[in-house]
Amino acid sequence: MEATAERSCTDGSLASARQPVSYSLSSVDLFEAMRCAPTTRHFKPDPVPQEVLLRVFDAARFAPSGGNRQGWRVVVVQDPERRAALRDLYLPGWRAYMEHTGGATVLADPTSFDRAVVRRVQGANDYAERLHEVPVHLVVGVRLPDLAVTDAGLPRQSIVGGASIYPFVQNLLLGLRAEGLAAAMTTLLVPAEAEVKSLLGIPEEIALAAHIGVGYRAGPWPKRLARRPVSEFAFLEHWGEPLGEPGRFA
Ligand SMILES: Cc1cc2nc3c(=O)[nH]c(=O)nc-3n(C[C@H](O)[C@H](O)[C@H](O)COP(=O)(O)O)c2cc1C
Repeated sequence: MEATAERSCTDGSLASARQPVSYSLSSVDLFEAMRCAPTTRHFKPDPVPQEVLLRVFDAARFAPSGGNRQGWRVVVVQDPERRAALRDLYLPGWRAYMEHTGGATVLADPTSFDRAVVRRVQGANDYAERLHEVPVHLVVGVRLPDLAVTDAGLPRQSIVGGASIYPFVQNLLLGLRAEGLAAAMTTLLVPAEAEVKSLLGIPEEIALAAHIGVGYRAGPWPKRLARRPVSEFAFLEHWGEPLGEPGRFA
């Protein structure tokens, strides 16, 4: 499948004869990717073909952004020395996070904690310590002049700035999954933004938004991701009013 400009959208009826043959996804593939794109922290060492990444970027660029400014930028890092440098920049933030959240205590005395908790903390810690082994690192940034931060004046933490970059990031995650690739999105590299920008020659006007480790998953995919049911977050007409039968999408 080539990255062409001619590919067009359908009217949504996937069975329709109007669907361009160049589409490889059916609606089932999309929903499956949405439900089954876990954070992967252990990867095979196999390289990822550039063609596959290009295909994912080609689809991800159709994400929405305020004013259609498309401020996203991505640096693909595969060079072993640069990957090691990114790990070195990631680790201080990770270790501080482990201290702050109690993860360091879990690792120091694993027998005192639930096995599932130990496994989760250990997995995330292994990911951080072995970040340089992840075959592809996507460093995702956004052009600050392209962001319209409509909630900047509210007396609370701003959230809207991210709205013009994270739909693109989610498109990347879904696209990677659709290609059979595994990924881990993290944000702990962002506090080391100045050093990361200097390492990769990223211009001043770019803010770091995410780091995505990419590769082929070592081990099987999980059967089901742990998520709260629809009834806990979606309401009908008024906050707290149930939408649909409770427990139907649990
Ligand atoms: C904004 C953000 C930051 C995250 N930071 C980390 C991180 O620092 N380390 C890590 O191992 N996973 C990180 N994750 C992954 C989450 O832990 C993961 O999405 C969550 O536990 C659900 O995991 P699952 O999709 O495998 O079920 C992050 C995810 C998001 C969206």
